[in-house]
Amino acid sequence: MNDLKKIKLPEHITPEKYLLQFKPDLVNFVFEGNETITIHIKKPTRTISLHSKELEIKLAELFLNKEKYSPINIVYDQKAETVTFLFKTSIRPGKYSLKILFKGILSDSMRGFYRSSYTHENERRHMATTQFEATDARRAFPCFDEPAHKAIFEVSLVVPNHTTAISNTIETSIAEHQAGYKIIQFAPSPKMSTYLLAFIIGEFEYVETKTKHGVRVRVYTTPGKKHQAMFALKTAADCLDFYDNYFDIPYPLPVLDLIAIPDFTSAAMENWGAITYRETALLVDEKNSSTANKQWVAIVIAHEIAHQWFGNLVTMHWWTDLWLNEGFASYMEHFAVDALFPEWEIWKQFVSGRLNTALNLDSLQNTHPIEVPVHHPDEINEIFDQISYAKGASVIRMLASYLGEKNFKNGLRHYLKKHSYKNTVTEDLWESFEKISKKPIKKIMSAWTKRPGYPLVTITGLGKNIVLTQQRYYGNNQINKKQQPEKPWPIPLAITNNKNSFYNQLFESKKLLLKDSKKLFKLNPGETSFIRVVYEPEFLNRLQPIIINKNLPAVDRLGIIRDVFSTAESGLISTTAALKTASWYIKEDELVVWEEVATNLQNIRFLLEGQDFYELFEKFCLTIFAPLAQKYGWNKKRNESHSQSLLRSLSLGQAGLFGHTPTIAKAKKLFSEIKKNKHVSADLKSVIYNLVSRYGGLKEQNDLFQLYRKSAHMHEEQERVGRSLGQFKNSKLIEKTLKFSMGPYVRPQDSPTLFASAARNPQGRPVAWKFLKQNWKKIYNRYNQGGHLLEWYIASFKKCNTAEELNDFRKFFSTAPHKGIERVLKQTMEIIESNIAWLKRDRAHIKNWLNQNVKE
Ligand code: BES
Ligand code: ZN
Repeated sequence: MNDLKKIKLPEHITPEKYLLQFKPDLVNFVFEGNETITIHIKKPTRTISLHSKELEIKLAELFLNKEKYSPINIVYDQKAETVTFLFKTSIRPGKYSLKILFKGILSDSMRGFYRSSYTHENERRHMATTQFEATDARRAFPCFDEPAHKAIFEVSLVVPNHTTAISNTIETSIAEHQAGYKIIQFAPSPKMSTYLLAFIIGEFEYVETKTKHGVRVRVYTTPGKKHQAMFALKTAADCLDFYDNYFDIPYPLPVLDLIAIPDFTSAAMENWGAITYRETALLVDEKNSSTANKQWVAIVIAHEIAHQWFGNLVTMHWWTDLWLNEGFASYMEHFAVDALFPEWEIWKQFVSGRLNTALNLDSLQNTHPIEVPVHHPDEINEIFDQISYAKGASVIRMLASYLGEKNFKNGLRHYLKKHSYKNTVTEDLWESFEKISKKPIKKIMSAWTKRPGYPLVTITGLGKNIVLTQQRYYGNNQINKKQQPEKPWPIPLAITNNKNSFYNQLFESKKLLLKDSKKLFKLNPGETSFIRVVYEPEFLNRLQPIIINKNLPAVDRLGIIRDVFSTAESGLISTTAALKTASWYIKEDELVVWEEVATNLQNIRFLLEGQDFYELFEKFCLTIFAPLAQKYGWNKKRNESHSQSLLRSLSLGQAGLFGHTPTIAKAKKLFSEIKKNKHVSADLKSVIYNLVSRYGGLKEQNDLFQLYRKSAHMHEEQERVGRSLGQFKNSKLIEKTLKFSMGPYVRPQDSPTLFASAARNPQGRPVAWKFLKQNWKKIYNRYNQGGHLLEWYIASFKKCNTAEELNDFRKFFSTAPHKGIERVLKQTMEIIESNIAWLKRDRAHIKNWLNQNVKE
């Protein structure tokens, strides 16, 4: 038997329908449930196994019409997370009803059926809610907890009279139950996977609208917050209509609810018809929300609603193909937001965001292919990573650009219609695109989804004829040098001469000869292909006037500076060449290009902090960011664009971090206004808090702590303050922040944010590391239930750059438990290794260059 066979439930028993009833107890944090599952037994068997975790089974009975079979034994297998009912004699094939009564705990682990708390009428109250993806439906009821076991769910909930109960579908009846309780019945769900089921019970208020196509949309919040739900409501309704049209398949339910949950591990979860959200990913307070947060809310809404088709209607057969869900939703979120808010220019941000993240992660030896074999739940959880999300979305974007809009849309429609209410593998998607476009999609795309990594394209021979070559790209030069030759990738590649593409074909050989080098302007216009390009000095010099005069589209200017810094990290060009290139961007005016310049200079900052010439580097960065901060200033201009608002925050933040005194002084002044409850634009608040903390002491810390506690009603504000709390330079203050992060004022969903803020701060890093070691047991036990919060604790150390740090890291985790975070650990150590090599290689050159080029 292969591994997957061992982990999966046997195939001869399949569910058709679940009748489910739950009764949560919001005082004692337990629940009772009963279910009747219609199952098909396809061959004679003495055992029936279902997934079940941390549930106590009170009774189980199997019925064939009136015939009753009672199991002679019930066996729990904790490791396999199953329960097995053993019968005395063999059960013959047929359609049976399996009745089970069970009990469970409403835990605070944010997994399965769990509790979350909120304050109402000055009182701490609780709600019960669910989070089942990937493998936690089994914590709420015994079930066939695999995505391919689709079934119909009919849920009823027995809840206190004063509460609201929400589930995937519309309620069909409310009846009185015992004293103080009511019983709410919901309509049968579509045929769907267990991980998409949801039920939420608590005190809620809501706002409501109808889409043009007649779907009732509601946004639910805890009491007192529904005024923050209007943006989400409109966005969700518009989004639903948009996808209805684009996919040409109507959303199949009469209702879509979006629910804000105060304690939530991820940003949101796409439960069919009942999408749950972290408050920061759903609520927008027009007066107190930042532009960035509003954009994030739109993205998350568009992402989860895309899943209603990609994931819910058509679902991956097994988690190996998770990217079909997450990669697609991450692509479609941009697609829909672009349609709804064209002025946001969100596709440009895709390039500085998702694409960039993917290129970085996938340049590691410890990456993995998009399609990755997974078995145990720990492994399954691990692939909810940026390879599935960001690389997935990036290769889809490359495909969309290769196919053209029409073929892409028709291919998607074909795929979704053909496989509605069923499960698929990646090949099914390629087949649909092939059928529609008549192009060899499977051959091309398999290379991108079945192989790890991506190619680096090198250009030589600029004199007359150009030669392009390709080989795998590794961020770490040690690995680059040792790499074995790999098969070339089929790269859909365009080359532009600044007017149009003079080459636009598949580059699928190791080498490509192009006549007439004069035409060459830029490879990969629009940065649609998933590659890096190494710009040798000669080519870079050719680009200088083009960059300075902005004679290339913004994403191409972005692509150049991104690859220049990345190839400097991997030692293919010098870091000083990269710094010089950065200085050509001073006249830049596009948000996304500035984001890229800033990210890369921040990376160098992390590399150099603590060096004896660090101040010179700060000065160099100030020559870039001080003029920018002055240009955008602190005041919103009339009718300024979305991107300009974001760019203002970025420029002030960067200038301040690199020590721009007027910016720091102004931040402090505005902070005192905030303390006096004067209105300050939400777009400026992150900058203010970060700078006040960076250049502040005990008093500022106490002010920020107080602000944090005071903002419990507005989670967005709490998050902003929380992110700033690790920025202090003083170790004692960092220690206090770290303690605060695990204390009573910080929800467990937010502690990692505070920790990461400290760990990413060069002065905070040693303190955070010590704290992590001392508190690992507690942290690990708190978060190892699943989800991704534990990863934050590890990944926030990827700016380490000394051998001592690396050794200590390695030593600690050689004995400390780290189940479910193996890959992140390896990736983090690989990045640290690369940092060490980078610093060692280029430190002296950078110092020299700064000495020569920065005026005292
Ligand atoms: N399906 C995920 C939520 C999820 C994540 C469940 C990890 C189980 C484990 C959801 O669709 C999602 O991807 N949410 C993203 C937001 C999105 C905008 C990238 C998240 O929570 O980060
Ligand atoms: Zn998703």
